[in-house]
Amino acid sequence: MDAQKDQHYWSDRPEAASRPGEVSLLLPDVDLTLATDRGVFSADRVDRGTRFLLLDGPPPPSGPVDLMDLGCGYGPIACALATRNPEATVWAVDVNERARELCRANAATAGLDGVRVVAPDDVPADLSLAGLWSNPPIRIGKEALHELLTRWLDRLTPDGTAQLVVQRHLGADSLARWLDGMGWTTTRRGSRKGFRLLEVTRGQPDTRT
Ligand SMILES: C[S@@+](CC[C@H](N)C(=O)[O-])C[C@H]1O[C@@H](n2cnc3c(N)ncnc32)[C@H](O)[C@@H]1O
Repeated sequence: MDAQKDQHYWSDRPEAASRPGEVSLLLPDVDLTLATDRGVFSADRVDRGTRFLLLDGPPPPSGPVDLMDLGCGYGPIACALATRNPEATVWAVDVNERARELCRANAATAGLDGVRVVAPDDVPADLSLAGLWSNPPIRIGKEALHELLTRWLDRLTPDGTAQLVVQRHLGADSLARWLDGMGWTTTRRGSRKGFRLLEVTRGQPDTRT
């Protein structure tokens, strides 16, 4: 994560006075201008880890599937997923109310009707996810992060995959080992400029049916 100065970007209601801004999300297949603000993660530019995830991660599954952007912030991942699969419902989840408002506005401005922005407890209880994408909030602490990942990885369908981008020096490799120890299979899909791109699936990839 780049926004080390935003120590409290995961507050439910950021105290920082509003200072609206804009960033550009430019990828080979996505060209969006996104509204940002103080009190949300990486408000000055799209985070390098997020860019890496969107550039080197796989495309979302096609069709009318349910996907999640866990910890959506102002929505770069959710908006990219909805652009890439307009039939999908992309659940953009964040504890930070200001981030949710920005994500909602950014999806609406881009005409991305499939994005549903919700607080964690407002995700439907019976929702199963064909895919989960996240630049997870490592700085909330190991125990809270483990609880968070367990809560949402358990929603993956049997063939569902999660794509996580984590800085190596913030514990990407130990997180991968922890996930494997919990019965998930974690594959390093890529490594770039200190970031790891981790793909998480249930069981062994070659034995999944
Ligand atoms: C590293 S930021 C990534 C933000 C955005 N996806 C991006 O790429 O710019 C992680 C996000 O997780 C959110 N977060 C922290 N704890 C959370 C929780 N328990 N449930 C959902 N989101 C959470 C933070 O508010 C923050 O927006």
